[in-house]
Amino acid sequence: MVHEFPHEFLWGAATASYQIEGAWNADGKGESIWDRFSRTPGKVTNGDTGDVACDHYHRYQEDVALMRRLGLKAYRFSTSWARVLPNGRGPVNPRGLDFYDRLVDALLAANIQPFVTLYHWDLPQALQDEGGWENRNVAHAFADYSVLMVKRLGDRVKYWTTFNEPAVVAFEGNLTGRHAPGLQDPKIAYQVTHTLLVAHGLATQSIRAANPNVDIGIVLNFWMQDPASDSPEDVAAANLAFERGQTLFLDPIFKGHYPPSSYEMVGENMPKIQAGDMALIAQKLDYLGINFYSRNLISAQGNISSVPGSQYTEMGWEVHAPALRRLLNRINKDYHLPPIYITENGAAFKDEVSTDGKVHDEYRLDYLKNHFIQTKLAMQDGVDVRGYFVWSLLDNFEWAHGYTKRFGIVRVDYETQERIVKDSGEWYSRVIASNHVEE
Ligand code: FCB
Repeated sequence: MVHEFPHEFLWGAATASYQIEGAWNADGKGESIWDRFSRTPGKVTNGDTGDVACDHYHRYQEDVALMRRLGLKAYRFSTSWARVLPNGRGPVNPRGLDFYDRLVDALLAANIQPFVTLYHWDLPQALQDEGGWENRNVAHAFADYSVLMVKRLGDRVKYWTTFNEPAVVAFEGNLTGRHAPGLQDPKIAYQVTHTLLVAHGLATQSIRAANPNVDIGIVLNFWMQDPASDSPEDVAAANLAFERGQTLFLDPIFKGHYPPSSYEMVGENMPKIQAGDMALIAQKLDYLGINFYSRNLISAQGNISSVPGSQYTEMGWEVHAPALRRLLNRINKDYHLPPIYITENGAAFKDEVSTDGKVHDEYRLDYLKNHFIQTKLAMQDGVDVRGYFVWSLLDNFEWAHGYTKRFGIVRVDYETQERIVKDSGEWYSRVIASNHVEE
């Protein structure tokens, strides 16, 4: 069976600044919380850092040429705040800003739409030293940085994202401590949750005032929470997990209030909320970005960690594409949403270079194919999905896992910086060219 996609469907691939750029202190760049965190012993597997990563800062032309060869219609990347404002605010680093200018021009010359994320986790360390996202002044600094970027690039960049996965920023950064800045404090984590949402609202408002022509959205991470059976207990447990994980950000942004169940979860760690904040957070958006990787199967007793018959990725995430269709339908029913982009989807597998010099990653190819098909089915169900970004264009620095997890449709040899398009990448290129997926 052949699944056709609409003519203007935006097929792309995604990356993030700290995960690929390297050049961590080149040309006047300031230190970010990930520069600091990855240097802290014990935080990242093998002591890996993003100091060099894919050296994209120096190799962006080669990488754009690769994207052109794959036929990508769009490229989602993030800008490093500390590269353009080494202290987070104050004097601009013109060489840092020039880099993004050159990158955008190279993309447009290759007929690739830039899709820019302003915050993909690399806060300037100088702002963390002021308390980071717990401090409301940082939200204002973010709005100023956003306007700076939009003023410089908004004549050429249509799509802007304020935050990538604010839930991960708040909870992995400040509750589990697995990500920078590595704190483990629920009170801080909930204050950060609120301040990030305020920062999203402030930036959206300021960007619109600076340039009414650009599209603004936010990217949220979604795990479908499926009940293990249709017993009322399992269904209730799955619903609660969905509310706790997913609606904590969706409700304020699209309904203008926190979900009722969150108050019980937050308890004594209630953040400071100022009058007018909820209206500020619920600004009208042009799109919602969805990052989707997997689901949880939940019973009243907890998560089922190994589902019989299921395949798991190198991250330990279950491969279960139908959950994407269910998720899209569910949020489409529960919220009045703007158009949707799948801003990340992909899988880490143990890739090897074969004797023919290629990477035969049929697992990744199947993973992508099945998720594309489920998206198309959701579109037939009535969900307005406009584009799809594979995570990731390149193998890269996978946060606390360092370089041990490979998500790319292009392999990176970290010794030589050689890029090899994997079979999944060649296949994806054919999907884009034909605009359909064959089952
Ligand atoms: C997402 C992140 C992205 C990448 C993938 C695997 O949560 O946004 O940077 O690490 O997971």
